[in-house]
Amino acid sequence: MTFAEQPDAILAELRGLREHDAPTHGGRVLSYVYDPGLAELDELAADAARLMQPVNGLDPTTFGSVAALERDVLGFVRELLHGDADVVGTVTTGGTESCLLAVKTARDAWVAAGRTGQPRLVIPATAHAAFQKAAHYFGLAVDLVPVSDTGAVEVAAIEERLGADVALVVVSAPSYPTATLDPVEAVAALASAHGIPVHVDACIGGLVLPFWPGLPAWDFAVPGVTSVSADLHKYGYAPKGVSVLLQRGRDRQRMQYFATTRWPGYPVVNPTILGSKSAGPLAAAWAITRALGVSGFQRLADSTRRSTSAIVAAVAGIEGLRVLGAPVGPLLAVAADPAVAPERQVDPHHWADAVRGLGFVLQLQPASGAIPSTTHLTITPVTESVLPELLAALEQGADAVRGAPHVDPTPVLGQLPPLAGPLDSDTAAGILASFGIGAGGALPESLAPLLAIIEATPPPLAERLLVELLARLVEPR
Ligand SMILES: Cc1ncc(COP(=O)(O)O)c(C=O)c1O
Repeated sequence: MTFAEQPDAILAELRGLREHDAPTHGGRVLSYVYDPGLAELDELAADAARLMQPVNGLDPTTFGSVAALERDVLGFVRELLHGDADVVGTVTTGGTESCLLAVKTARDAWVAAGRTGQPRLVIPATAHAAFQKAAHYFGLAVDLVPVSDTGAVEVAAIEERLGADVALVVVSAPSYPTATLDPVEAVAALASAHGIPVHVDACIGGLVLPFWPGLPAWDFAVPGVTSVSADLHKYGYAPKGVSVLLQRGRDRQRMQYFATTRWPGYPVVNPTILGSKSAGPLAAAWAITRALGVSGFQRLADSTRRSTSAIVAAVAGIEGLRVLGAPVGPLLAVAADPAVAPERQVDPHHWADAVRGLGFVLQLQPASGAIPSTTHLTITPVTESVLPELLAALEQGADAVRGAPHVDPTPVLGQLPPLAGPLDSDTAAGILASFGIGAGGALPESLAPLLAIIEATPPPLAERLLVELLARLVEPR
């Protein structure tokens, strides 16, 4: 068959598109990507994914390889997380899906226990937004427990929220925005005394905290922990599309499934949200766990820990910045240091913009509740290979913006037309344009003003504008 376009030309175009992306390898992007710095491991993962490419992960009875790989991966993670034979699980397509399914399981278990009304989901304010999404999708009320200005949640504050309508309490190990390891043991003891299940969201920490020394118990070693999510596409170094959700107790875990024989097609029995799905990321994760083994994960975590300590020490030495709270694992949130005079402070958002100009992409995080504006860093094994250059950039970036005040968004917000009712798409696009964000969705060079607008805009409006931004980005041109 002759193709409409030649494969070489198609791939050349794809390579051209990728050239404009943030680099996924080499340690220059400190969020989203988890580079072990081992090219041969990436090759192995790609080869394994390619072997499984035509397989449909929907049906492990037709494709027995899928069941075999899943068993192995679940067994590997269960052992790391101190699960016994009563802990069973599922490979999912990512952290969000694992979190969604933990909540769906809890809701169905709550209903199955004969409760009526609306179940409630109790989560610290630092819990990943995937739980707000889960509550939205599955009809639970979200009960956000405020945290301190360091991201720490009080056990007593969670205790106050416990009641018969609570279907699930979530804690993080650690949380994404502040790297807080929530008080898992204390929360699990209280919740289980009320008969309430506890999910530990270790999506980001699950494959690295087991190799971090000196931590209190946070996984299935803690009685009362009923489920744990852990992403292989984060510190499992697999390509995107693979996470695990482990649950204590077969009967509980069966609530995760959706099954129906009530249609004329094949019986549908899905542990996950998708039907047909790729088995490629699962195969890649499987191959990586086999190649690295526990000792390989330990070595990569050791490298990550050395880099994290070096960055913490460097930030502590930069006048005007401070590391927020007591971070656990390879994540950091960096804030302005209120202990120095304003003219010596470093605004974390201006800092991130300046550091990006020096070749490293940090992630700006908006102020929220008691937590001030911060900049997030995810540190990975590859960070060690660029550490001297990164530390120099962190310092130079701070020197460049020290004393520059946080962007005041009021002039921009003042230009907003009075808003009544829901925004239509064109009005939303017009407002984005007035903020300097083009119709093509191109973001401005400097992100600090955008974050200041997000911080100051009422969430429903900010959310609507961001929806417009993302939706227009993929409109065919
Ligand atoms: C703690 C935590 N939970 C859940 C998620 C969501 O994971 P994903 O982006 O794979 O859906 C993340 C992502 O960073 C996370 O850090």
